[in-house]
Amino acid sequence: MDTKKIPVIMDVDTGIDDAVAIILALSSPQLDVRGITVVAGNQTLDKTLHNTLSVVDYFGRGDVPVAAGADRPLVKALYADPATHGESGLGTARLPQPAIKPHSLDAVSFLRDTLEKSDEKITLVPVGPLTNIALLLSCYPHVKEKIERIVMMGGGAFEGNMNAVCEFNMFVDPEAAQIVFDSGVDIVMCGLDVTMKSYTTMEDILRLKATGTKAGDFCAEAFGVYYDRYVNNSRLPGCAVHDAVAVTYLLHPEWIRAERANVKLDIDGRETYGQTVCDFRPDRDKTADNALVCLDIDREKFVDLLVKACQYYK
Ligand code: RIB
Ligand code: CA
Repeated sequence: MDTKKIPVIMDVDTGIDDAVAIILALSSPQLDVRGITVVAGNQTLDKTLHNTLSVVDYFGRGDVPVAAGADRPLVKALYADPATHGESGLGTARLPQPAIKPHSLDAVSFLRDTLEKSDEKITLVPVGPLTNIALLLSCYPHVKEKIERIVMMGGGAFEGNMNAVCEFNMFVDPEAAQIVFDSGVDIVMCGLDVTMKSYTTMEDILRLKATGTKAGDFCAEAFGVYYDRYVNNSRLPGCAVHDAVAVTYLLHPEWIRAERANVKLDIDGRETYGQTVCDFRPDRDKTADNALVCLDIDREKFVDLLVKACQYYK
């Protein structure tokens, strides 16, 4: 079995499920988290940055650099989501003030420097709007050769959450998403097709709490209003832990069913602006395929992984 760690840089808009993704990534011996860059999305950048610093520090990983990125999308005005993640961005969870400070470099410069200096390719794991990643690829295209692939949370082949066809991360910055999907860098798209199957029921949340750990307590608290919103406003019997699926793909791709496709971002449509248009047709030009689109997951194993991650933080 390959015990070599996978070098990754996460890009987050912390948010409740971003926090769980960070907790999962930092608990995994399989991952070498070289840094975390932050973007505006679920909340304004000041809040997503503060939340990311708070989570990294509270869970004992102040060694991981956190760099601040874009405070707004490339073209649109920022659309934040306090209805889902609360005014703070972490629901009703409250963490101590972080003792750590942001990295001296901005997110895009940090990404460029870290990629340039790395003696191995790095996997990028963006789980928010793709503004930082689009700026990196546009300003410093030479770093593409140092990117192993992009394993992202966003989009959806057959569903949306902002409307019938558009997912939040794509909705916030469709132009950035188009730049990333057209970049030629290989993408694993963990969209709503798989993440809406990656939910935690109340029973699952109580399992996290029952670990008796700081991570279990945090998740149970953060999931409070998040769970209510999903159970009251979606077909789910629990809350979708979207961003943790991108990290799960890196750790256990065998738990996830995925198909290659050609994915294009619609940035011209009236009703479909921000849609990830996924072409799976057997007779498509497969040489134009740019992404592996995730469609299903072993939910039980996913939840067990979250429980195991909480147990790491005794
Ligand atoms: O649509 C779900 C995505 O939007 C997740 O990344 C969540 O954190 C929000 O950013
Ligand atoms: Ca997110």
